[in-house]
Amino acid sequence: MLYFILFITLFCILYTSQVKAQTCSVDTFQRNECGYAGITQDECTSKGCCYDSSVGSSSGIPWCYSNGINSEYSLSQLSPTDYGLQGILTISKGQNSIYGEDIKTLKMEFLIENENYFRLKITDPNDARWEVPSQYSDRPTKTHKVNENDIKYTWEINDNPFTIKVIRKSDKAIVFESSPIIAFKDQYLEITSVFSGDMNTYGIGESTRLNHALKTNMMYTLWNIDMPAKMMDFNLYGSHPMYIHHESGSQSSYGVALYNSNGIDVALGDGYLTYKAIGGVIDLYGFLGPSPEEVVQQYTSLIGKPNLVPYWSLGFHNCRWGYEDISHVEQVVKNYSNAKIPLETQWLDIDYMDEYRDFENDPENWSYTDVGKFIDNLHENNQHFVEIIDPGIMVYKGYDAYEQGNAANIWINGMDSNPYLGQVWPGPVYYPDFHNPNTQDYWTNQLANYHKKIPTDGFWIDMNEASNFCNSDGTGQTCMNPDPENCPTGDDATQTDCCLKCTTIDETNKLAFPPYKIGNKQGNGNLGTKNIDMTATHYGNETEYNLHNMYGIGEAIMTYNAMAKITEKRPFLVTRSSFIGSGKFTNKWTGDNAATWNDLYSSIISIMDFSMFGIPMVGADICGFMDDTTEELCARWIEVGAFYPFSRNHNDRPSAAQELYLWDSVTDASKNALGMRYRLLPYLYSLLAEAHWLGSTVARSLWWNFPTDKGTTGIDSQFMWGSSIMISPVLKEGATSVDAYFPSGKVWYRFRLNDDESSDAYKMEVDATEGGKTLTLDTPLTEVNVHIKGGSILTLQDAKMTTAESRDTPFTLVTALCQHGKAHGTLFRDDGINMMDKSDEGTQVNYSAEMISKEGKRKETSTSIVITSEVVSDAYAKDEIKYIIITAVSGLPDASSLNNIHTKLVINKDSKTVLTHQDDCKITALASGALKLEFNGLDFNVNKNWSLEVSY
Ligand code: GLC
Repeated sequence: MLYFILFITLFCILYTSQVKAQTCSVDTFQRNECGYAGITQDECTSKGCCYDSSVGSSSGIPWCYSNGINSEYSLSQLSPTDYGLQGILTISKGQNSIYGEDIKTLKMEFLIENENYFRLKITDPNDARWEVPSQYSDRPTKTHKVNENDIKYTWEINDNPFTIKVIRKSDKAIVFESSPIIAFKDQYLEITSVFSGDMNTYGIGESTRLNHALKTNMMYTLWNIDMPAKMMDFNLYGSHPMYIHHESGSQSSYGVALYNSNGIDVALGDGYLTYKAIGGVIDLYGFLGPSPEEVVQQYTSLIGKPNLVPYWSLGFHNCRWGYEDISHVEQVVKNYSNAKIPLETQWLDIDYMDEYRDFENDPENWSYTDVGKFIDNLHENNQHFVEIIDPGIMVYKGYDAYEQGNAANIWINGMDSNPYLGQVWPGPVYYPDFHNPNTQDYWTNQLANYHKKIPTDGFWIDMNEASNFCNSDGTGQTCMNPDPENCPTGDDATQTDCCLKCTTIDETNKLAFPPYKIGNKQGNGNLGTKNIDMTATHYGNETEYNLHNMYGIGEAIMTYNAMAKITEKRPFLVTRSSFIGSGKFTNKWTGDNAATWNDLYSSIISIMDFSMFGIPMVGADICGFMDDTTEELCARWIEVGAFYPFSRNHNDRPSAAQELYLWDSVTDASKNALGMRYRLLPYLYSLLAEAHWLGSTVARSLWWNFPTDKGTTGIDSQFMWGSSIMISPVLKEGATSVDAYFPSGKVWYRFRLNDDESSDAYKMEVDATEGGKTLTLDTPLTEVNVHIKGGSILTLQDAKMTTAESRDTPFTLVTALCQHGKAHGTLFRDDGINMMDKSDEGTQVNYSAEMISKEGKRKETSTSIVITSEVVSDAYAKDEIKYIIITAVSGLPDASSLNNIHTKLVINKDSKTVLTHQDDCKITALASGALKLEFNGLDFNVNKNWSLEVSY
């Protein structure tokens, strides 16, 4: 009897939960928001909606929701086209009016534009909709026909319901599989990819997180906004709707991108990823990889490869908001020099502006003459200068930039057809419409005239989401300035309070309040919050609603073009807001972080994200932008920041000063870490140049380089430069050691600034050939762990106070042999400043090394090591090679038998030089056991083919 009662009870429990599950068990990606922030369970259920208290408040997933969209389409009239297939999709199930009426007939195109990527495009055949215009990317305007045998994928299409699966030919891996649920409405598009639950998903930015792999059961929102980067899991300044999948320990990766500029939510669940875009078309690309590096190369071949950065920009940059006048800044530059910390570039924030007007200097504290002299001095010392510029142009009679903008009629207009009035630092502003082709001339003229007075080496383009201090309280559709006298300018504390009188936004306005609310963390569904209003219009009557996420890239393109014309050199730009393809024109800093240990940690993840987004020259504000830093945090931060591809200290106006020379320990940490950076500049530059020519990445996660090593999964606290240098910094307060992981299959050598005889530089720290190893490394406050992967050949120069001085020193070639006694490396070298059309306008060299024995066998019985240089192009570079270092591996002679070593160097085949312990080749052994060969008085240059045999 008891069992019977138990059984009935259990049955009832199961049954009721089942009933509940049937009504409310909607996958998170199918949930429609039914409540509002703070809704109670009772309020929610009384609306007939489902309530799920298990959803974390920061996940972005609705916890009061109604059943979701489940519409399906069927495919007909599938026919081949010149570039793939096309067919008609007709809604076959689940028609609904959630978020608007379904568009019942759609055009589906499956385009084979490249052997390594495919494109799935779904549009409305009866109505042209907004699509990202071609001027914003390298996307082919005409598709080119791919030879059928070259296509590296196959596809399976199901007609009813329509689904598509794309399979990589080489290993049969599914790189894309759509779920049957598709929504296509005027302001709501939905498409889902399904995949094996073991996949780690990376990408989908911009956001700040403490984990590189995206957490599942989270909603990620892409909507550009001036939101401090210190906010974890918020939508920030940029939109990059691309992701890469990688299963821990597996060889293969692939990537997917939705080329769409509208607001997007990405719901990531276990085994599915749903894009929910509020406009545009479904324009989806899939990249086959199979390595993550190849995914990015394929992606950047489509969106535009990163810009070629000037060599000087690899030096260390100093900035702060709140310098009082130019003499203050002069003193800062002197202090860096006195402290012997290499400062390459001094920046100016908006302090220099007259009442925060672009292109006008404050005549008293930042006069053209004084700042001009300052720049001259910097240039004389081989240092550089970068200045900020904001897009908002002050509405101010007689101000050139304003008057000329009026005359050229290039502003973004409001819904009343007058220029849209917003408010930024100068108070009331109009915004140049970078979508308008006529804006190019206007912008070039402003920059050119200003550049005559202030010959800045680069521009920092900020506030380009575009930020607006009005429009944050539900008003802001149309603003007026009723009391110009009272609008704050200058250093008024209320500067960010809206001083304009703005109309309340009508909640029925579908652009400001679209039917589907993306998870924009600001503004209760009003997309215009802190932004230009959604109803504002650009050239061609295009709405801000469609173009919003592209304002930053528009400004970057026009600023890049202007600077290229004005200086006839490579432009150097750093932006806050970015979009798919921005990397072709600009570099990126990660925005307003804070001086916390978490911000230091998350900065590594942000750098990895932007590597994936095709913006490899990226860095976070070193020592933290907001709040007061501490000595320890700042020391640890420069040890990480010295290895950001873009390395800049920047600080907020109210926060305590944090120039690196202010503390002894930070000074020492900086000299050490930046010293290592400067030694590695030829390597770093080669990586950045390769990124430009090939679309490759610079800063990389460990898993990126070691995809099959499961031990690398989830390690976000270490990172690499290219495939050869690994950085394992301290990221925890009070810690003086690091548990560093050394990926499997390699030996790892210490890299140190000092490689004189007493140094343990190039010592083999770990032999992880048989499997990855974790090692606890002692890391005092002024040190950072840097290792060279066995198998690499690195080119180094000396650490000096500027990149130009460093570039003048002779090369050291470090041959870090792998366990099999081999190594290779590359060098790219050019003048570092002029525009280049082709990579062979520079010098490119491939290096390789191998230990061999007389019988031809390797390593164990080796009697010599042979290093060769093979020049691919020699258009530039006269740099002398002075040192060659060979790391110690078993088989190599040690310090006691140096006399038994003989060397033979053959340069350019014909001009033979044989050397044995003569003045022109000295051999020493370092404390680490590495051999150091010093060459003197030879015509031994990087642009020559040579081979060096070291026998013993
Ligand atoms: C923004 C930028 C910050 C800059 C400040 C003043 O907050 O993100 O870096 O210092 O504006 O220009």
